[in-house]
Amino acid sequence: MPPQNNAPAFGEYLGAIKSLRKQLSNFGISKKKRLKDLVKLFLFKEIPYVEVAVTTFCTLKCKDCANYIPDIGSDKHYLMTFDEYKRYLDNLLADIKKVHKLVLLGGEPFLNKDIEKILQYSLEHPKVRKVKLVTNGTLDIPENIILLMKRYTNPLFPKIRFFISDYSLNKEIANRLKIDAITAKLKKFGVPVSSVKSAMWYPVSAIKKYNRSAKENIRNFLACPFQCVSMTSNFLFVCPRAGFFKMYDTCKQNEGTEFFDLTKPVTLKDYLRFYSNVFFNACDYCNMIEDVKHSVLPAIQKENKK
Ligand SMILES: C[S@@+](CC[C@H](N)C(=O)[O-])C[C@H]1O[C@@H](n2cnc3c(N)ncnc32)[C@H](O)[C@@H]1O
Ligand code: SF4
Ligand code: SF4
Repeated sequence: MPPQNNAPAFGEYLGAIKSLRKQLSNFGISKKKRLKDLVKLFLFKEIPYVEVAVTTFCTLKCKDCANYIPDIGSDKHYLMTFDEYKRYLDNLLADIKKVHKLVLLGGEPFLNKDIEKILQYSLEHPKVRKVKLVTNGTLDIPENIILLMKRYTNPLFPKIRFFISDYSLNKEIANRLKIDAITAKLKKFGVPVSSVKSAMWYPVSAIKKYNRSAKENIRNFLACPFQCVSMTSNFLFVCPRAGFFKMYDTCKQNEGTEFFDLTKPVTLKDYLRFYSNVFFNACDYCNMIEDVKHSVLPAIQKENKK
């Protein structure tokens, strides 16, 4: 149940929007997207995007995985059960009217035996507008999942998008990829599939405290293509990296402003604080502003590196 009488007052929204504008303009930064997110939260009680790591297990061990999946130790890996997912999603959506895009990924989502139920619940959820399922194309897609997706692929309003990250430019793993077979199978059932050949990836710099000034951290955060609000285990973070940092106590992150425990409902006040951040403590441990200037071959495997 949504918490009662806990909605932020008009003045609180206005204060947050003014404060965000002021902080950005004080640093000479013009970035409208953060402001738009706050305005939409205020006007429509909606949030733009959440991705869910339904498991941290993966079939590949990419050296430059943006989510640090291959660096997760065996004691920290998880497979989210359907009951856990339902509870966390319900708590995430308890006090808002809509999430625009919900992305199910991992690790490799097809390693999760509950993926069909997780997908079905997401597709049936009235507060979820679009669902995207992302796979690395190494596993076959079961027919029951294809039939489920078919029910949600109405050409006027397709609620599901099936996406294969295509790593075939990397010859090292090309023979492990089943992209053609998956694509043919989905097409046979009339389910649209999109895949993008990842011509380049961003490298991933070492995890360390970069000791940036506030202005540099804001710039680092705003340059980041991975501000992807992420459900990692039972927490909601600004990105999967912040989730990884919490697993390993890499840095201090404040519960209630920078991340939330999804065993409890997230309130509108929580979201207002979250989207008011001009950067997150995690960003000082990540070198996105430099990483985005370079590129590496996608999905280079760890065990094959010298
Ligand atoms: C972390 S993966 C998880 C889903 C699945 N395992 C896969 O590889 O598609 C999600 C997306 O992040 C992208 N990604 C991972 N590391 C990246 C990097 N260093 N630079 C750019 N994109 C990256 C992948 O290509 C994929 O589309
Ligand atoms: S990018 Fe590679 S290691 Fe990371 S989750 Fe996807 S396939 Fe797994
Ligand atoms: S820690 Fe900050 S800069 Fe790094 S990926 Fe996450 S949101 Fe982006």
